[in-house]
Amino acid sequence: MEVGKLVSNSVLLVAVVVVIINIFFSGGLVRADFFSAISELENVLQMENEVAHDLRSYVKSEEARLQNLKKIADDFEKHSLEALVDPEKHLSNPINAYLLVKRFTKEWNELLEQQIKSTSLSEFLKSLSTKTSRFPTEDDLQGAAYALMRLQDTYALPSSKLVKGDLQGIQDSVHMTAQDCFMLGSIAYKGNDFYHTIIWMSEALRMSKDDPSIDNSTLLDYLAYSYYMQGNTKKALNLTKEWLLIDPNHIRAQNNLRFYEQLILEQESRARSRGEQQTHYDENSNPRPMDAYKLSSDFQNYEKLCRGEKTQALYNEHLLTCQYRRHHPFLYINPIKEEQVNWEPRMFLFHDVMTDGQIARIKKIGKPKLGRSVVYHKSNSQVTTPQDYRISKSGWLKDEDDRAVYKFSYMAGLLSNLTLDTVEDLQVLNYGIGGHYEPHYDFATSRELDTFEKAIGNRIATFICYLSDVQAGGATVFPGIGVSFWPRKAKCAFWYNLMRSGEGDMRTRHAACPVLSGIKWACNKWFHERGQEFIRPCTLSPLE
Ligand SMILES: *[C@@H]1O[C@H](CO)[C@@H](O)[C@H](O)[C@H]1NC(C)=O
Ligand SMILES: *[C@@H]1O[C@H](CO)[C@@H](O)[C@H](O)[C@H]1NC(C)=O
Ligand SMILES: *[C@@H]1O[C@H](CO)[C@@H](O)[C@H](O)[C@H]1NC(C)=O
Repeated sequence: MEVGKLVSNSVLLVAVVVVIINIFFSGGLVRADFFSAISELENVLQMENEVAHDLRSYVKSEEARLQNLKKIADDFEKHSLEALVDPEKHLSNPINAYLLVKRFTKEWNELLEQQIKSTSLSEFLKSLSTKTSRFPTEDDLQGAAYALMRLQDTYALPSSKLVKGDLQGIQDSVHMTAQDCFMLGSIAYKGNDFYHTIIWMSEALRMSKDDPSIDNSTLLDYLAYSYYMQGNTKKALNLTKEWLLIDPNHIRAQNNLRFYEQLILEQESRARSRGEQQTHYDENSNPRPMDAYKLSSDFQNYEKLCRGEKTQALYNEHLLTCQYRRHHPFLYINPIKEEQVNWEPRMFLFHDVMTDGQIARIKKIGKPKLGRSVVYHKSNSQVTTPQDYRISKSGWLKDEDDRAVYKFSYMAGLLSNLTLDTVEDLQVLNYGIGGHYEPHYDFATSRELDTFEKAIGNRIATFICYLSDVQAGGATVFPGIGVSFWPRKAKCAFWYNLMRSGEGDMRTRHAACPVLSGIKWACNKWFHERGQEFIRPCTLSPLE
């Protein structure tokens, strides 16, 4: 069972496991992935810059060397041409003869040959190889490609807009080429994702007009097969015909043609025998693959909320209010703006909770601690591998680590009214390309609590703060109740995960939407049950 459960004591365990996983997947080489946190990709940019610098200094030294060789050539040419006017006369002078012999013995061996051969290539290659080991991998490429496709699905972005760098109206100067589209299509194809193969290969075909390097028959090959796999045999046949127009002698194309023709005949005769009416045929039919999970209202609402659509009216919305929070001396001078965003379960947003300096500090000390976020499974002793449904990196900060962390914890305690006695350390999160976390609970859903949890109880409440503005996407959404929070720097959210009875509140199932544009940093403080007994006493009703 999936449990969105991370316990501070297990940080070490997580670190060890992450290392083991890395070793396992990279054949002994410990290598961090880049795509799962944008902050890691910054290192790649840094490295790109270093490689450029290395290349430049190599080119410079080669240019100097070639300049030198040119001088030698000039010198040889000048000397020989002068002498060749009358070689006998020139060589009749014994000094000239001596100098000529010297040039091609001593001088050549000690000077000229060295200069000709002395390239700095091997040094350059050596320095380069220390960097190539830090290059992103095929896994990163795949992760980044899947991320683009996820964004496309979640935000219903047409590929024709994506290739122009248009993300929901946020226009960037970046453009994709036909080759880029082809590459995305092939990655999808390798993952047996024929839906996206068709989208991206079609885009590549459309763009191939302006790019002669694209091989149309390969494209048609991929496209026809993918349409066939998507159940659109007629389109597969049509594309195979197109392919044969370009490549009339291709054996496989000819075989496929017969196969598709046969298949269509069979399908039609079967339909006739069942007495089915000829229904409307959509030539470009390419249905998005939907499993039971994707068809569930939970997932559908998740995607809707991510796109900023409403799923349901909020209960008692007219009673939700905003106010300044002054319930503690600490807040007298600088009250915090509180906004209630849901009636039941009660949910609050707090605005401008942290200063820019505090945020910068937490990001700075959090960055070196980031490791790929994992999801805990109770069944296989608590840990599991990184999953596609959670693309982020996280790290843990203790109050003792820095004054900014301590102050943050203090504020979380003040605004929630809860005791910090059993609170977890601060989790800092940086999301990756299209980074997201599909719907989950923050509390342990398993009946079996481990010893640590028995001591401090389940996760009673969540206090999450955003540490950056995100231009598009990246909302925190609750598909069951239609609530969404949009990330904004220094904005925090608070809710109880458990009922007063200690039962998990199923309405708190939530998700982090993929980041469409921008960089999402967040931090979490999870409160536990122990110590809150008098702050939030239980009532007589198990449903409260
Ligand atoms: C590929 O097909 C497109 C039209 O779909 C065409 O404009 C382009 O010239 C073709 N490319 C080659 C290399 O034949
Ligand atoms: C494939 O379908 C298109 C659009 O319906 C049509 O214009 C084209 O002629 C067809 N190609 C072949 C080879 O049948
Ligand atoms: C915290 O306590 C104050 C004062 O008692 C109360 O008004 C406020 O609603 C409480 N906040 C939360 C999140 O329960």
